[in-house]
Amino acid sequence: MASDSGIGIHDLSFATTEFVLPHTALAEYNGTEIGKYHIGIGQESMSVPAADEDIVTLGAAAAAPIIERHGSERIRTVVFATESSIDQAKSGGVYVHSLLGLPSAARVVELKQACYGATAGLQFALGLVARDPSQQVLVIASDVSKYELDSPGEATQGAAAVAMLVGADPQLIRFDGPSGLFTADVMDFWRPNYRDAALVDGQESISAYLQAVEGCWKDYAEQGGHSLDEFAAFCYHQPFTKMAYKAHRHLLEYCGHDSDKDAVEQALGQTTAYNRVIGNSYTASVYLGLAALLDQADDLTGRSIGFLSYGSGSVAEFFAGQVVPGYRDRLRTAEHRKAVERRTVLDYAGYRELHERKFPTDGGDYPTPVQSGGQFRLAALRGHKRIYERR
Ligand code: HMG
Repeated sequence: MASDSGIGIHDLSFATTEFVLPHTALAEYNGTEIGKYHIGIGQESMSVPAADEDIVTLGAAAAAPIIERHGSERIRTVVFATESSIDQAKSGGVYVHSLLGLPSAARVVELKQACYGATAGLQFALGLVARDPSQQVLVIASDVSKYELDSPGEATQGAAAVAMLVGADPQLIRFDGPSGLFTADVMDFWRPNYRDAALVDGQESISAYLQAVEGCWKDYAEQGGHSLDEFAAFCYHQPFTKMAYKAHRHLLEYCGHDSDKDAVEQALGQTTAYNRVIGNSYTASVYLGLAALLDQADDLTGRSIGFLSYGSGSVAEFFAGQVVPGYRDRLRTAEHRKAVERRTVLDYAGYRELHERKFPTDGGDYPTPVQSGGQFRLAALRGHKRIYERR
């Protein structure tokens, strides 16, 4: 039985990479008018992983502060959501479980459905906690977004991980009401197993996202969810921040509401701060939107937030959460800002070198250069195994 105070996000923490590429450097290299990046897609910079960073080190870095604050005794499930997986068989979550010294009496699994995977993880977590409110679930969304050099997608890369502790009597967000669901088989964005950069039909992907917004909202309304004007803000999946604006305008118009600039800015303006400087973090993106909102907005106690999670291919879900009294005392605003500000700025050549870097596949012993300064690093590839270390 769930407790009276509901189930939701007890704690949330994110991590991003060692390096950052400002869009001004990309624009200067490819001759693009900077307004296209800063205004047209709403991006200023993108996080770039160092040679010794990946989804595991990012995921561990995001989750470590949560374990430090709450311990791990109640965590019996770790859900690791990613679409930039490092292994076809073993879950990235098992490495994180080991790096963080989590209890062996736990189940760990990796989930995938493009950028939607973390929301599936969150929903599974809510079900597990409803079954046994004494348990907590650690949901980690971790991704590196990579497109071909010199492609239109290149400006929408990024990387980050968000870790969320899900439990009863949550201290940040309590979920309520139904979910609106939508699935459609579309080829807007995909990544065959033999590629490390995604393939995308950019305009098709935008249309597919908007179609999914309509679809999951329609179902949400039919399931008896809140009405649009009950929400204080909306956290959308943000492949680039302008996409959230396109999506919300589309939703307002679909519902016959006025989509004037002020109303849209009011609903979204505070959700974009981290995504704008980190770039697309795929599964983590919608929850970086939540982090930005909680870290920046004036008191949201008791207010409803709408979440729209979209993953190409495509699956979308709309659901609602309410901000819990006292949440401001639990935020990690200073650490989040530090994670963004501490990144080392790359020039275009440095970024390109990292982008083109390929891991050898012959099973030899390859230590990785020490580039990152965080607690966790990918130390080597040895005998086809990834060797991680905690500093
Ligand atoms: P593009 O062809 O480089 O750009 O592709 P564009 O010509 O469409 O221009 C972009 C915007 O900039 C336009 O605004 C221009 O008018 C404007 P809009 O008409 O869309 O409002 N613009 C300017 N604005 C101000 N000053 C200027 C200027 N010049 C132009 N000087 C595209 C852009 C996003 C398609 C490309 O970057 C891309 O393919 N990105 C990857 C795909 C993507 O992010 N799709 C989003 C929806 S799918 C999704 O969200 C899922 C995903 O996260 C994956 C997953 O689920 O796993 C991707």
